[in-house]
Amino acid sequence: MNNSAEWASCDPICRDAMKQLLTRHPVGPKHLLPPAPTEEQVCLAVAAALRAPDHQKLVPFRFVLIPDDARPLLGELFADSARRSGKTDDEIAIERDRAMPGPLLLAFVVRIENDHPRVPPHEQWLAAGGALSNFLTALHVMGFGAKMLSGRKAADPAICNAFCGSGETLVGWIAAGTASQAPHPRENDNPDAILRRWQPPQGLQDASQS
Ligand SMILES: Cc1cc2nc3c(=O)[nH]c(=O)nc-3n(C[C@H](O)[C@H](O)[C@H](O)COP(=O)(O)O)c2cc1C
Repeated sequence: MNNSAEWASCDPICRDAMKQLLTRHPVGPKHLLPPAPTEEQVCLAVAAALRAPDHQKLVPFRFVLIPDDARPLLGELFADSARRSGKTDDEIAIERDRAMPGPLLLAFVVRIENDHPRVPPHEQWLAAGGALSNFLTALHVMGFGAKMLSGRKAADPAICNAFCGSGETLVGWIAAGTASQAPHPRENDNPDAILRRWQPPQGLQDASQS
């Protein structure tokens, strides 16, 4: 199946939508410049996140906007985590600076109910992943670049405590803004590699014929 040929033949609205979906790409914080998405645009991206498939509508995720004037404090948390893990002064300074690039920064937090009677944890994680994907794609559709980042510091207890309540997991941070350069060319994705027709196991076929 040639996906670009398939979507090129549909109507203009469908074609534009498919083009957006098929061209989303990550843009790292170093390549993100102002303007950042406005709060209204962030709200729209969150609304798109809420449209992701979510069994029983548990909404097991949330986004946390990090105000610009709180970035230095976040940088100190990053630096402190690096210091505790035995990094050199230069490495600590690099970690401190990681709180600064990208005109908009949000944390992404997930809350999984391990004992939910109907929705197992893997379905809740998938709902959170779908939400993250919709959020990033919505920013792309609105003309912004973004990238999800985590690293070991996302598991640092002091950093987690600064973002999470009890039972929550800090997944990481989303940097967003306006891409300063065109995306690197990327190999075509290959849907055929992951799309297969189901072959019922032979035993099932034999049973249905007997
Ligand atoms: C939960 C999560 C955490 C990630 N953490 C990092 C990270 O710390 N560093 C990094 O370079 N990429 C990280 N990535 C990958 C990038 O966000 C991005 O997905 C990757 O560069 C591939 O591009 P794609 O968005 O087209 O898949 C993470 C992705 C996810 C979903």
